[in-house]
Amino acid sequence: MSEGIIQPDQPETLEGDGKDLFSKFDDIIALREGLLASGQEDPFNLVMEKVLSPTRAICNGRETILLGTYNYMGMTFDPDVVEAGKQALADFGSGTTGSRVLNGTYQGHKECEEALREFYDMDHAMVFSTGYQANLGIISTIAGKGDYIVLDIDSHASIWDGCAMGQAEVVPFKHNDIEAMEKRLKRIPEGAGKLVVLEGVYSMLGDIAPLKEMVAVAKKYGAMVLVDEAHSMGFIGEHGRGVVEDAGVIDDVDFIIGTFSKSVGTVGGFCVSNHPKFEIMRLVCRPYVFTASLPPSVVATAATSIRKLMHGSNKRAHLWENSKNLHKGLRDLGFQLGTEEPQSAIIAVIMPDLERGAAMWEALIRNGLYVNLARPPATPANMTLLRCSLCAEHSEGEVSQILEIFEKSGKEIGII
Ligand SMILES: Cc1ncc(COP(=O)(O)O)c(C=O)c1O
Repeated sequence: MSEGIIQPDQPETLEGDGKDLFSKFDDIIALREGLLASGQEDPFNLVMEKVLSPTRAICNGRETILLGTYNYMGMTFDPDVVEAGKQALADFGSGTTGSRVLNGTYQGHKECEEALREFYDMDHAMVFSTGYQANLGIISTIAGKGDYIVLDIDSHASIWDGCAMGQAEVVPFKHNDIEAMEKRLKRIPEGAGKLVVLEGVYSMLGDIAPLKEMVAVAKKYGAMVLVDEAHSMGFIGEHGRGVVEDAGVIDDVDFIIGTFSKSVGTVGGFCVSNHPKFEIMRLVCRPYVFTASLPPSVVATAATSIRKLMHGSNKRAHLWENSKNLHKGLRDLGFQLGTEEPQSAIIAVIMPDLERGAAMWEALIRNGLYVNLARPPATPANMTLLRCSLCAEHSEGEVSQILEIFEKSGKEIGII
């Protein structure tokens, strides 16, 4: 889903001779002002004054447990990762000042792509400046006018934007509904180009896609398949390759999209593929060509982190323990959760409405716990969610502390 994005109404207000181009935001401005006027702390303007570790920061002068980052594997303070970044900064300078296809490909970018090829055991890897640009670029370049994209209605904003940019026919289906997906594929005219776009883990509720069945259906109708594994890389699957690995379909998908901004612990995006013509993408994909490449320090931290994630099975096991313990604990406290069982490192707590959701968010932060507040229209079924994302560096004791803070805050607000 498009996290945090408000879809504006059409502009109506006339000012002087022209339209006030900001008038389309009046509703959201009023909503926000109303919330803040009630004394509510702004949940979308939190400042981390100091970051102490992957799981702790100083927020509002208070030590706070972080349960709303995407630092799933806790790599941001890994000594080898930090050292690699420092060394690259010293050896190659602070930035490349250019596109990958001109002066912006350094040794570090090639090493990062090599690390990705090894991590996924795939032939090709292409690094983008963000995961957003990876989806934007790959989807818009491979599916253009006259082609069809069949995608889950709850897809991330970068997927929708990639579809819009390429101007393909977009055919959404109900979230995780295999039958609905097949119906859409069946109706596509014979001979048309078809791309099915799925995510391994859907980040709002933390649920996973039934990829085994969905990839089989896509193949039955001759569609190419792209899977965004942003929220599963490093964690799900025997080698951390994502839900595609866990479901045994990694060799059947055409493209895997991922990001460095979550488990890898830095910033950047990528696509890996075994398609024999894949390398041409470097010349025809506009969000790859027409932007500066990642700084040397970033690709060095990414490559080091990816190589360490190849040997992260102990961390993966601990993160699963954390996810199970938090899910059970929250459920036992009486909270309503987004999934029956823990399916990923994200556990979504469903709030009765935006007001109580915002109040609960504020109580949690006051009591020393940061989570993500997500609200409509970014969320499925107009839900207000407190999204908890766990880290492999959360200790068992921290998970117990998190549960205590949820209990205290829930009672203060009267939600449990
Ligand atoms: C499913 C999904 N795809 C892509 C992205 C974009 O990643 P990045 O932060 O690297 O732009 C995100 C980020 O939230 C995401 O959740």
